[in-house]
Amino acid sequence: MAEMNRVSWKSPSNIAIVKYWGKKGVQLPMNPSLSFTLNHCCTETSIEYKTGNGSIDFFYEGQQRQDFLPKIETFFKLIELPFFAELDLIIHSKNNFPHSAGIASSASSMSALSLCITEIEQKLYNKEFNFLQTASKRARMGSGSACRSVYPKAALWGNTLYVPHSSDQYAIDFSSELHNDFIELQDYIFLVSQQEKYVSSSAGHQLMNKHPYQYARIEQANNNIVQLMSSLKNGDWELFQKVCEEEALSLHALMMSSSPGYLLLDSDSIKIIKSIQQFRADSKTMISYTIDAGPNIHVVFPKNAKSSIDQWIQSDWNDYLLDNRIIRDQIGNGPLKMI
Ligand code: PMV
Repeated sequence: MAEMNRVSWKSPSNIAIVKYWGKKGVQLPMNPSLSFTLNHCCTETSIEYKTGNGSIDFFYEGQQRQDFLPKIETFFKLIELPFFAELDLIIHSKNNFPHSAGIASSASSMSALSLCITEIEQKLYNKEFNFLQTASKRARMGSGSACRSVYPKAALWGNTLYVPHSSDQYAIDFSSELHNDFIELQDYIFLVSQQEKYVSSSAGHQLMNKHPYQYARIEQANNNIVQLMSSLKNGDWELFQKVCEEEALSLHALMMSSSPGYLLLDSDSIKIIKSIQQFRADSKTMISYTIDAGPNIHVVFPKNAKSSIDQWIQSDWNDYLLDNRIIRDQIGNGPLKMI
């Protein structure tokens, strides 16, 4: 294979409602998690490949970034595909959301990379396999949450007694389990801080190994998965909201009660949460929030609440609107193979 070949995928980020927090073994989760696949926040990655001796050139948004290589090389070691040592790769990657937005891009970037790699394997070996499941398993090696990004709408990762084919090794498609009310769920991301987090997610996961509440957390997440699945199937907004917010606050409570403890929330994160609570009490609008491992607030709501929420933002959060600090996202249809 003297000539260059090319594969390319665009893959979205996802937002977990029941959070993955804590690992065991090789990138396996301590507890099951369930997420919605986003539509707007994506990474597009292409790989050009030809026979060679394992060289990798990596370009991020057009700039060669060899400083990203250690992470990519570790990833290639973990996925154990020896034939990559006999290929030369040129990888181009770009995000369609600002790098400085404070949004984790590891889920979208690692899923896009894994989809490309899985397609190369399929092309070279004409192999029959479950493409998305294989890509999900590999994406997990790069970033746990990335394994959920390969599916449309919603994904479940982690073994749970209540879902027969669930696995710690890869995520499974959960899109067919959503009640109509959740299919067009909206996610407006309030960008509270654009700064890099001072404690990474990897460090946070590690702190769960000796966390005083480790077992209680595993039990809580397993209970919340059952409740969340039930709310999603039955269109039970009240139950969804309860689980969604309990998980968001628990994630940050686990960070605060780690040893050493740390705090990723900002004063604006609290202000937005209180404003949501007040607006909900006054207007009875279906609105909830979730939070990733950072200060940004994801405001989630069904599509029919959109105009009421747009009005609330205009009146109470106009400064965020004017500063372009709200990304209006929603549930999406999963990765796209590019030409
Ligand atoms: O995928 P990681 O290792 O970056 O961990 C992400 C963990 C959370 O985003 C906080 C929760 C989740 O399930 O996505």
